[in-house]
Amino acid sequence: MKRVAVITGAASGIGRGMAERFAAEGMSLVLADIEEEPLGKLETELNRKGATILSVKTDVSKSEEVEYLAERTYDTFGSVHILCNNAGVVCSRPIWEHTIEDWEWVLGVNLWGVIHGIRSFVPRMLAQETKCHIVNTASILGMVRGPGEGIYKVTKHGVVVLSETLADELAQKGAEIQVHVLCPGWVRTGILDSDRNRPNQEQNPHEVSIGGVRNVNTEMEAGISPEEVADHVYNAMQSGTFYVFTHPEQKALIQNRLENIII
Ligand SMILES: NC(=O)c1ccc[n+]([C@@H]2O[C@H](COP(=O)([O-])OP(=O)(O)OC[C@H]3O[C@@H](n4cnc5c(N)ncnc54)[C@H](O)[C@@H]3O)[C@@H](O)[C@H]2O)c1
Repeated sequence: MKRVAVITGAASGIGRGMAERFAAEGMSLVLADIEEEPLGKLETELNRKGATILSVKTDVSKSEEVEYLAERTYDTFGSVHILCNNAGVVCSRPIWEHTIEDWEWVLGVNLWGVIHGIRSFVPRMLAQETKCHIVNTASILGMVRGPGEGIYKVTKHGVVVLSETLADELAQKGAEIQVHVLCPGWVRTGILDSDRNRPNQEQNPHEVSIGGVRNVNTEMEAGISPEEVADHVYNAMQSGTFYVFTHPEQKALIQNRLENIII
């Protein structure tokens, strides 16, 4: 039986990298994204390579849309072997200057998106009684502190602890679901252009300037490719690794934070 992978935020960047890698591994794919056109293009491309694809336009911040995604997935394939809760956006200014709309948008996609994924898919995955994986995309910023990307960091720290709790509770239950939390450093993707998917843009006229004085474009250009991230994810599933880092040298930043906590 072919394995089935569901990926949110599949139309671009890391999600797309995972879709291409999983298709190359012979899996059937459920591609979910808020952006319909690139989603359709990816479906056509992967179909041409012989992959079986279901694509479902989904806004992960809406529980009913993620539930619909799960219903369509199970109606079509009957089971899921890999769930990647990956969709994400970023928006940055001093944390006290963020609007309610900033908070609602970023929390909605990055944190509620993962929560909805877990609520809609985990009960169905448990009922399957087959080995499967959940990969939640956090970030190295879900592990460290510092100025900039305030809401983003709140959501990514949330995704890390959500994943830890999920993994521990599933293990306690003896479930066959392995959880992984992906914590990438810079990856060359469309994330700096997140505003393209922001709802009610006319009500949120502020410029996005991530990290104040840092040149984030240069930092991103020095990042790794989505294909490399997909390799890390695939290898982590093979080896049963929970914390998935793409830039192991950044563990020093985590150590520094923890040492400051326990000093
Ligand atoms: N690029 C990096 O350096 C980096 C580093 C660490 C973590 N991440 C995380 O990786 C994940 C993927 O981001 P990326 O870097 O590939 O960016 P990207 O912009 O290339 O891809 C994100 C995808 O999410 C989709 N999306 C946005 N809002 C959505 C919504 N409401 N519902 C469904 N889909 C939606 C976008 O259309 C896009 O296809 C995010 O969670 C991001 O926070 C990225």
